Amino acid sequence: MFRRVVVFTYTSLDDSHPQPLWLGTILAGVSLGVSRLTKASGLPTCGDAPIPSPEPPNYAERRCTDRGRDATPRFVEHPRDMARIETLARRYPLVAHGVGLSIASAAMFDLDYVAQLARWRRRFGLCWISEHLAAVRVSADGVVDHHTGVPLPLAWDEELLSLVTARARQAIDVLGCDLLLENGVVFTPVPEPDMGEAEFLNRLTRESPCRLLLDLHNLFTNSINLSVDTGVFLRDLDLTAVAEIHIAGGNEVGGFYFDSHAGACPPQVWELLDRVTPDTPGLRGITFEFHESYFPQLTATGLQRELLRAGAVWRATRRGPDVATGLPAGDR
Ligand SMILES: [Fe+2]
Repeated sequence: MFRRVVVFTYTSLDDSHPQPLWLGTILAGVSLGVSRLTKASGLPTCGDAPIPSPEPPNYAERRCTDRGRDATPRFVEHPRDMARIETLARRYPLVAHGVGLSIASAAMFDLDYVAQLARWRRRFGLCWISEHLAAVRVSADGVVDHHTGVPLPLAWDEELLSLVTARARQAIDVLGCDLLLENGVVFTPVPEPDMGEAEFLNRLTRESPCRLLLDLHNLFTNSINLSVDTGVFLRDLDLTAVAEIHIAGGNEVGGFYFDSHAGACPPQVWELLDRVTPDTPGLRGITFEFHESYFPQLTATGLQRELLRAGAVWRATRRGPDVATGLPAGDR
């Protein structure tokens, strides 16, 4: 099934507001997304190119530090870790996934950050870059780039659509590769939207060159907290725009269900995956997102079970050569 799993984390801003950027292989069509990967965690490393244990413990999480938009230099790379990525990039196709772009923030659009992503895209040959359709950076209390800590609810209206489509075009021009935007989790929806989320996403992918990263666990989370009808959402969504799918587990805290990547996928998420993959001709990968702090509960066996099942769905769905890697079906 999957031959390699490689995941890295890029932490920007400061320690209290980490913005991880994951880099994972898509060789087998299935990858594992975690926010931290250490040998101590017991998670699979990258096949025959294992990642040494981090020294000191947190160091390996920070491939690069973002010192802030006004700092010079702004991006300070950690040479040892970046060298590891270069080594891996010579052997495996990599993709990147981030949460720090904040493409829906009205207050700012961080093109310098996009330019940094583009430099890594060229350097590591990233196949594509994915981000969240989210606003996490705002202007508040005189701080221009204040981090909210959690994504803000978005207004599904014409104004936001126009803002995000223009920025997606701009970002793709800079990146020089496909940009995928991911549907998120909502806890407090903005009332009286101009359109539903599915229609917003359809227009976004129609009116800009960006593709969709469909997070089925986020959808499942919204179905629990907001009674979103998953069947209606997926019926209304243009699945031909989907280039990657996320699956994950979660848990309940304080009466809310969270997309916490807390373990195995709920059966409902597997059902959603089975339902949508036959209708996603542009699908290039399935990622199982997992937070390593739950590894003692899931264990290596449980993790492998999730990946094997995702791999089985991938193989059952794919026809012809791998879109992303060009690998023949038997080599995936
Ligand atoms: Fe996700």
